[in-house]
Amino acid sequence: MSGKKIILGITGSIAAYKAAYLASALVKRGADVYVVMTKNAKEFIGEATFWSLTGNQVISGIFDPPTKPEITHVSLPESADLLLVAPASANIIGKIANGIADDMLSTMAMVVRCPVIIAPAMNVNMYTNPIVVANMDRLRQHGCIFVEPGVGRLACGDEGVGRLADPDLIVQFVEESLMGGPRDYSGVKILVTAGPTQEPIDPVRYISNRSSGKMGYAIAEMAVARGAEVTLISGPTELDAPANVEIVRVKTVREMFDAVVDRAGDVQIFISAAAPADFTPAVVKDQKIKKSTRMTLDLDKAEDILAELGKHKDGTILVGFAAETENLENYAQEKLRKKNLDLIVANDVSPGSETFGSDSNQVTLLSAAGDRVQWPRMSKREVANGILDYIKKNLWEELS
Ligand SMILES: Cc1cc2nc3c(=O)[nH]c(=O)nc-3n(C[C@H](O)[C@H](O)[C@H](O)COP(=O)(O)O)c2cc1C
Repeated sequence: MSGKKIILGITGSIAAYKAAYLASALVKRGADVYVVMTKNAKEFIGEATFWSLTGNQVISGIFDPPTKPEITHVSLPESADLLLVAPASANIIGKIANGIADDMLSTMAMVVRCPVIIAPAMNVNMYTNPIVVANMDRLRQHGCIFVEPGVGRLACGDEGVGRLADPDLIVQFVEESLMGGPRDYSGVKILVTAGPTQEPIDPVRYISNRSSGKMGYAIAEMAVARGAEVTLISGPTELDAPANVEIVRVKTVREMFDAVVDRAGDVQIFISAAAPADFTPAVVKDQKIKKSTRMTLDLDKAEDILAELGKHKDGTILVGFAAETENLENYAQEKLRKKNLDLIVANDVSPGSETFGSDSNQVTLLSAAGDRVQWPRMSKREVANGILDYIKKNLWEELS
């Protein structure tokens, strides 16, 4: 980071004290750090901590006279290499996402042309509020990089997602961004499936499952962030397509099967995070089935996408997910072996496990080579990054 000019924006969060560690870590790595504090951030931590850690004047009031011409609301952001907002309040995220520039930090965020990294920290209800979620999605679409918050007990006493990400992880994001991004997947083609399928019964009804698609979308997002060329084959979900991902939308397992088989020959890694149906109605009625006292549905076994790829495996790394309600690891091991996979991600979807639809997941990785790696509950993006790390470290050699 030597010689890099970083603006560290700090907002009114209980996690503001962690910004002292961040400022110090960035300075130790050679960065020239300018701290910009919102008025509310100063309710949580004092300026003196930051000017003494960084050696630079702390910037706050938009009308405070600048001590040097190069640190005005325009000149500093114009010359910055990176803007890091950590911790980022719901308020600053909302302001930046909507073009509001009513204080020094939000004004600078409008001026910068350098990468912007945002590390949110807030109460779980704030973090999952659809307005905040939409603001974050909007910023992602504009290229802002998010360091997702962790899951656990929050300062307010609530449990859930919202705790500022590990400061060392934030520093790692900064390092990777300054180096031009974490490009360890540059030039790698990855096919990912996500979400459920819908198997029609008649023109108005279908069989489906509770998969939200969030895990597969997180994998696609993280893989792109790390330089991969990603195609995401998605069943019906409510999620927006991740930026810079080629998305193919399908409904039925047959459509998902065809879409995967068409493209699998062209990729180095296939990650099946979707939950395609195991059974599909034997006959799809042309007209709506009329109400009666009893009705029996005949189901056929659906196409098995992973088994098909496993059968014709030709060097592609195959990663599957096993979502089970009981005997999780036994079933996952069986699936790993039967379908000729390299890695399986076992996740518990029993009632109360809060996996489907949730932003977090607790998984165990089982590899064909006999590895077993169990992780604590983490955000789905952290799980996604962990899977990509595992592949790069343990399976990539076999491929190249
Ligand atoms: C004790 C306390 C802790 C707070 N922690 C957070 C927080 O972690 N994240 C957040 O978004 N807002 C938090 N808030 C609310 C913000 O400080 C408030 O929305 C404020 O307007 C943010 O202003 P700023 O974005 O300009 O710094 C907290 C408020 C209090 C009183």
